[in-house]
Amino acid sequence: MKLRQRSEEQKYIGIIGHRLSHTLSPIMHTAALKHLNVDFSYGVMDVRLRRMLPGLLVSLRALNFRGANVTIPYKQAVMPLIDEISEEAKVIGAVNTIVNDAGRLVGYNTDADGVHLSLASYAAEIKNNPVVIFGAGGAARATVYAVAKFFAPKRITIVNRTPTTAKAIADEFGTVFPLIQLFYTNDSEMIAREVNMASLIINTTSVGMKPHANSHPLPPNTALRKDQIVFDIVYNPVNTALLTMAAEAGARTISGIEMLLGQGAKAFELFTRRDFPMHIAREAVMKELTQENK
Ligand code: ATR
Repeated sequence: MKLRQRSEEQKYIGIIGHRLSHTLSPIMHTAALKHLNVDFSYGVMDVRLRRMLPGLLVSLRALNFRGANVTIPYKQAVMPLIDEISEEAKVIGAVNTIVNDAGRLVGYNTDADGVHLSLASYAAEIKNNPVVIFGAGGAARATVYAVAKFFAPKRITIVNRTPTTAKAIADEFGTVFPLIQLFYTNDSEMIAREVNMASLIINTTSVGMKPHANSHPLPPNTALRKDQIVFDIVYNPVNTALLTMAAEAGARTISGIEMLLGQGAKAFELFTRRDFPMHIAREAVMKELTQENK
């Protein structure tokens, strides 16, 4: 009863990050909260300097926030500043959601849930097959984790402009998931070969994001096929150059909107203990993107 009263007092949620003018999280969460008549406000906490983070986390407790989402560039920086971190977030090495449980700040990584939800209907085609993942940043780490943990592919090849970070992920996750082969490369011929063999290709880099909507991460002359699945976590534009190429080849495509909604759904459930109204949130996000691109 005490906990219930306490959670009813908690009126605020927010997103912690920097350069947040384009974030869709407030629109997505506010639409969902309103639809369910949950009396929380979702705000933006733009933290200009990293040294301001500890004070902000103290304020989350003092002002009795229910929690916060965390985005670039603070997904790792918040980790030493909170009380507890879920096993998953520890393995991934990043926290994107903090829940204030009666003064105790608990960190989660719901990006992995976003990947899991986005790929759920393709599970049979991923199992025991090769996967190529472009990128080696925070989003890539959550993606490699989710693909390995929930879909048991035969092999994951990590492709990154900077090979050292790709190698670090391959080494680290190779230990966590010993039954899956983890490779890395940045050699174009090798990338083309790996893409050709893959049943699933995922872009977790920012390549193709507005204002560079004409670019994609594939090396020149890499062909896609209709039996492949292509997932781009970039959501602005919704139809990235990579997804357009994939659709032209007849491949199945998954847009970054699925990832945005999936990670948001899990965070929303952690904050409110209510089911996320997916269709309402999707409608709000699509409306905003359409208006932005007019
Ligand atoms: P996030 O948390 O969203 O993954 P990040 O940690 O900054 O963000 O990672 C961004 C990823 O996009 C990295 O893999 C980065 O490659 P590097 O490790 O070589 O920096 C990749 N990336 C960003 N811009 C790129 C570009 N123009 N070409 C190729 N890769 C790019």
